[in-house]
Amino acid sequence: MSRIVYVNGDYVPEEEARVSVFDRGFLFADGVYEVTSVLDGKLIDFEGHATRLKRSLDELGMAAPVTTDELLAIHRELLDRNELVEGTIYLQITRGSEGDRDFVFPNPDEVPSTLVLFTQAKSIANSPAAAKGVKIISVPDLRWSRRDIKTVQLLYPSMGKMMAMAAGKDDAWMIEDAHVTEGTSNNAYIVKDGKIVTRHLSNEILHGITRAAVLRFAREAQMEVEERAFTIDEAKSADEAFITSASAFVMPVVEIDETPLGDGAPGPVATRLREIYLDESMKSAI
Ligand code: PDD
Repeated sequence: MSRIVYVNGDYVPEEEARVSVFDRGFLFADGVYEVTSVLDGKLIDFEGHATRLKRSLDELGMAAPVTTDELLAIHRELLDRNELVEGTIYLQITRGSEGDRDFVFPNPDEVPSTLVLFTQAKSIANSPAAAKGVKIISVPDLRWSRRDIKTVQLLYPSMGKMMAMAAGKDDAWMIEDAHVTEGTSNNAYIVKDGKIVTRHLSNEILHGITRAAVLRFAREAQMEVEERAFTIDEAKSADEAFITSASAFVMPVVEIDETPLGDGAPGPVATRLREIYLDESMKSAI
């Protein structure tokens, strides 16, 4: 069975899905996206993703092509049609195509935005990487300054992952003024003396939906949380570290720039938070 994708109102086999070569997402990376995880055929934190999507669109003056209820219906239809039990749904909205290349934004009343969604089947709850943890390198953060908007400008994060692969590692954390901003496609955390430290929200990082849930669950479990910037040196001398995202949930980090953390195995705080996150997020999955 061919994967069914959604393009501007139609559900079509992926081979038949088309957008214009003049689409501003293609020409200018003028688009925003969301990745929502699916467990047991249900959407994890759909409301959080829908709220952040609305904010990204508003920040860029882009029109929402459908309502949140319609968006939920499309997600559900796509899950059904692809019989997706576990994995992710990728959603992208671009400022559409006016049939030519022009830096100036087109009039949204004349040029509709492009809406595309597709599913990705993968095992995320029982990921082998979570059992052994991931190794990371640090790279300078060379992205633009509005990282709070979830745009499709992902060339530098992609380059960061390639630098990690070239070094024989799994991923990269990005550094600005000696402080860690975030991972290439995830938020970054360290744990020292039982306290969880993660960068505070600002334009410098993406406001992770998994981050918000994990910090809430950690506080509910009486774990101490501090939201502030931390240096890469502080990270290397931490007891443990981890990352969070919709596609990795809570993933232990066991090595930073060749320095093993603790005994080089996933730490107890990250391991416990992963379990709590999986349990709690399933309770509110829709
Ligand atoms: N990435 N920071 C960055 C730069 C990200 O790209 C992501 C998500 C996150 C975590 O956000 P959330 O918890 O809402 O997934 C943080 C997605 C998964 C991706 O690009 O595939």
